[in-house]
Amino acid sequence: IKKIGILTGGGDCPGLNAVIRAVTKAAISNYGYEVIGYKFGYRGLYNNDFIKLDAQSVSGILHKGGTILYSSNKDNLFDYMVEENGQKIKKDVSDMAVANLKKEGVDVLVVLGGDGTLTSARDFARKGVNVIGVPKTIDNDLSKTDVTFGFNSAVDVVVDALDKLHTTAESHHRIMILEVMGRNAGWIALHAGIAGSADVILIPEIPYSLDGIVAKINERSQRGIPFSIIVVSEGAKEKGGELTVCKIVSDSPDPVRLGGIGNKLALDLEGRIPDHEFRNTVLGHLQRGGITSAYDRLLSTRYGIAAVELIAAGKFGCMVALQDGKMTYAMLEDVIGENKQVDIHSELIYVAKSLGVSFGE
Ligand code: F6P
Repeated sequence: IKKIGILTGGGDCPGLNAVIRAVTKAAISNYGYEVIGYKFGYRGLYNNDFIKLDAQSVSGILHKGGTILYSSNKDNLFDYMVEENGQKIKKDVSDMAVANLKKEGVDVLVVLGGDGTLTSARDFARKGVNVIGVPKTIDNDLSKTDVTFGFNSAVDVVVDALDKLHTTAESHHRIMILEVMGRNAGWIALHAGIAGSADVILIPEIPYSLDGIVAKINERSQRGIPFSIIVVSEGAKEKGGELTVCKIVSDSPDPVRLGGIGNKLALDLEGRIPDHEFRNTVLGHLQRGGITSAYDRLLSTRYGIAAVELIAAGKFGCMVALQDGKMTYAMLEDVIGENKQVDIHSELIYVAKSLGVSFGE
């Protein structure tokens, strides 16, 4: 092995730069490998658009959110939009990417991504490319690892927002709703909800009923607490509802991105408890930006070093993983498509319920 290519795919996330930095530094100083970074994820691989990475180019980026390599959310080279004879068509252009890797003499591709990006990584592995994945997503919904990088930073942002909402909720005796990310899993809402002392936590794994939420708000009022805080995952579902509420309330073809469940809840609940005022906040992409938390800087750095160790050991087609506090790896084939959700019988759910948190059941 002499040359490593790195790319960052899918939605950005705090910790991407920390991984890029760790891989680059360790690859050069521990093994004397060369490192290049493809720009805009797989698109850079297709266009052979890359920059050389060295100690200089990764200096000063450890704490910064985003990615110095840029990212792209939609570029799947196995189903890629190209223009042919003036027409836009989708086709498999993965051979071009493989040819580009060969042309540059890249022996290993390190892919930082969530489920979609790592699915492509798995597909490149099947084509014979030496691939190593690094588990990225603020949603923490990748399997075979205890935690993905970026999750902790996002939780910090949400907890900060909950602290702020508490003071204004208390001043105005209002019910404050905070809509957070988590399309398919409620990790962010659950962790931040407990750490930020939410009264109601709504997650995709536990369908809610308005009755359940109303009961909690009324119970607090009867105890003389005239305000409440609700944190809701964007992917939360109402009991009996087949679609997520945000899909129902928006006409957009991609409504999950626009938010909506928080607004819908505010309107529904206002109808049920007219003597309370409701306000909704959609935290959105604030959860993905800014400074990387200390925990994520450390985790991302460990993931980066572990990736280089796998390269040196000649282990490919896998993803670095954290299991029981130790760095290890899992095969990409076993990671993909699993959608790790919150176990509703887990300790954290019990912890929340023990504190009196309602899941709107
Ligand atoms: O996968 C992470 C995530 O933050 C989801 O929770 C959210 O639905 C999505 O990305 C939004 O991504 P974008 O707006 O970049 O398409």
